[in-house]
Amino acid sequence: MITLTTIAELRAQLDADRASGLRVGFVPTMGFLHDGHVSLIDAAVAANDRTVVSIFVNPLQFAEGEDLEDYPRDLDADAARCEAAGADYVFAPPVEEMYPRPVDTVVTVPDVSAPLEGVHRPTHFAGVATVVNKLFAIVGPCRAYFGAKDWQQVAVVTRMVSDLSIPVEVVPCPIVRESDGLAMSSRNVYLSSAERDQAPALRRALDAGLAALRAGERDSGSVEARMRAVLSEDAPGGVVDYAAAVSADGLTADGPLAGDVRLLLAVKFSKARLIDNDGLTIS
Ligand code: PAF
Repeated sequence: MITLTTIAELRAQLDADRASGLRVGFVPTMGFLHDGHVSLIDAAVAANDRTVVSIFVNPLQFAEGEDLEDYPRDLDADAARCEAAGADYVFAPPVEEMYPRPVDTVVTVPDVSAPLEGVHRPTHFAGVATVVNKLFAIVGPCRAYFGAKDWQQVAVVTRMVSDLSIPVEVVPCPIVRESDGLAMSSRNVYLSSAERDQAPALRRALDAGLAALRAGERDSGSVEARMRAVLSEDAPGGVVDYAAAVSADGLTADGPLAGDVRLLLAVKFSKARLIDNDGLTIS
């Protein structure tokens, strides 16, 4: 495995690979890799001839006052995990390599970005769409792998790829959880031990929402209330940004729930803000 820090070096490697007929898979990350990331690398290695993992904490997707400076970083451990998982290249550019001057070109996907996360982090998805677009232009992958924990992010990237006819297949991969149900996230390290005890309540809240749907509940407000009740009982240290039951397509609730329904949560603890989701198809 080779670790590269410049766009030119990575392009040279991948151009040579593609000239030999090899297909490139891509796993974009912000590093501090956990088993969820490894599952993305596994999927990429299984389906492509070459796998690139990018490790870049993208300043554009952090708002003022968010955790850009504190975001956990450990490049050596990340490189070791990538190598063990069978990745071929780690691309770990410094900020000046990605953004040598202030960025004047921004990619926005306004409708998909607006609800849920967009209400609480209004500039976040423009930063994500812009860096993912740039990374796609640098890597030129056939397939790109994203974790379903960031459900709305997958929706934003999928829409961007479709609208801009970017020749890449977006592959969403299942959420990987700790044994007590907490979805893996690099930000879980921010949880205090009392908060860590409460964090699996998100999984239980989703289960309560799914149980309500399975029992025939079709009113989004009632499903949301079930999820909030679990969170207020089992995670009193968290502030619920949203507990939503929406159509998986538009990420909005318009009338009785039907078809592909997605349940999504965001809960803010003292420093960690956790998100999670699950879904059900109502036939
Ligand atoms: O999901 C992430 O880690 C980031 O949002 C991504 C896709 C790597 C873009 O910076």
